[in-house]
Order: sequence, then C-alpha cells, then structure tokens
Amino acid sequence: MDILIETDRLVMRAFTEGDAHGIFELDSDPEVHKYLGNKPIKTIEEAQSIIRYILDQYEKYSLGRLAIIDKNTNEFVGWSGLKYETEVRKEMPYYDIGYRLKRKFWGCGIATETAMASMKYGFNTLKLNDIYGGADIDNIASNKILKKIGLQWIETFEYDNSPHHWSQT
Ligand SMILES: CC(C)(COP(=O)(O)OP(=O)(O)OC[C@H]1O[C@@H](n2cnc3c(N)ncnc32)[C@H](O)[C@@H]1OP(=O)(O)O)[C@@H](O)C(=O)NCCC(=O)NCCS
Repeated sequence: MDILIETDRLVMRAFTEGDAHGIFELDSDPEVHKYLGNKPIKTIEEAQSIIRYILDQYEKYSLGRLAIIDKNTNEFVGWSGLKYETEVRKEMPYYDIGYRLKRKFWGCGIATETAMASMKYGFNTLKLNDIYGGADIDNIASNKILKKIGLQWIETFEYDNSPHHWSQT
C-alpha cells in the first residue's frame, strides 16, 4: 500500500480498483449525498466508474482524492484531499480541498484531521500556491472545516441549483 499521508488515526493512500465496494458503500448512501445534489449511486458499476475517474485524475494532474483507511481496523473510511477541479467554476480551474466519509465515521474529527494533513501535503510536498473550497451554504460541517483549516470566505456562488460558499487560502 502506497501511503502518501499519515495522521494519528489514519492513512491516506491512492485509490485502487479494489476500492469499488468501499466507494459503493459511501456513495450509495442518500444522507452522504444530501448536500451533493442528491444523486446517490445505485450500482457497483457506478462505483467502478468513479474509481476510474479518480485514477484518470492521478494520471492527468499528478494528484487527486485519496482513500482514507482506519489504521486500527484497515477499514475504508471514505476519501479526502485535493483535486484539480475544472467543472465547479468553469471559468476558473483550481485546486480543491474536499472530503466525504461513510456515515458511521462522522462526528469524530476525521474530515478535519485529513483535510488539515492534505493542506500540508498540498503546500509542502506538491508546492501548490493556493487551495480553494466550495460547499453548499447549508452544509454546516463542511463550511466549519473549510474555516478551521485556514480558508477564508470570498463569496457565494450558484452550483447545482443551490447557493455555495466559496473560500480560498
Ligand atoms: C462533511 C463531513 C465530511 C464532515 O465530516 P466529520 O469528520 O464528521 O467532520 P468533523 O468531525 O471534522 O467536524 C467538523 C466540524 O463540523 C461539526 N459538525 C459535524 N457534523 C455536523 C453536523 N451534521 N451539523 C453541524 N455541525 C457538524 C463538528 O462538530 C465540527 O465542529 P467543531 O470543530 O466546532 O467541533 C461528513 O459529514 C460527510 O462526509 N458528509 C457527506 C459528504 C459531504 O457533504 N462532503 C462535503 C462536501 S462540500
């Protein structure tokens, strides 16, 4: 396993095709998709296609979201990390910080812990200059995390038919 980032409780590594069941568990949960346009997936083939998309991002941009694994149990927790984002603000591609966890792992500080570690990785290892983040204005947890990891609010913009906060380091 190629570990790229390690925190006290977790490791973050590149996705592999073997993560399809983990992605299926994560992305088929309607609660997880509440602020993500309400489009949970329904089949394992969709999960496989998500993984192919992430692997393609690694190839194209030399970075992408990383799988989070619980150090104690080896369980797939979800993902966190950086992405070169070209769709959300079409006029301006940017490096995005994001996180998505299986519901049983919510509320334990994991998104904050992995996002913080990803920011360090982005600046210190990847030598990025700026990192941005967007979140539905009603997604309180996500907006709190963006603030806690050092992003500052810039504006509100419309995405997926709902207002989103937009922040930058
Ligand atoms: C958003 C998400 C990643 C948060 O993960 P998490 O590990 O539970 O977050 P943390 O435990 O690090 O909590 C961050 C902060 O949000 C708060 N918080 C967590 N869940 C919350 C909720 N449902 N409502 C309000 N606040 C919440 C925490 O108390 C914490 O605040 P604090 O620092 O003041 O104590 C997780 O809920 C998730 O995967 N949601 C679905 C996907 C998603 O919405 N991703 C973000 C898209 S922009």
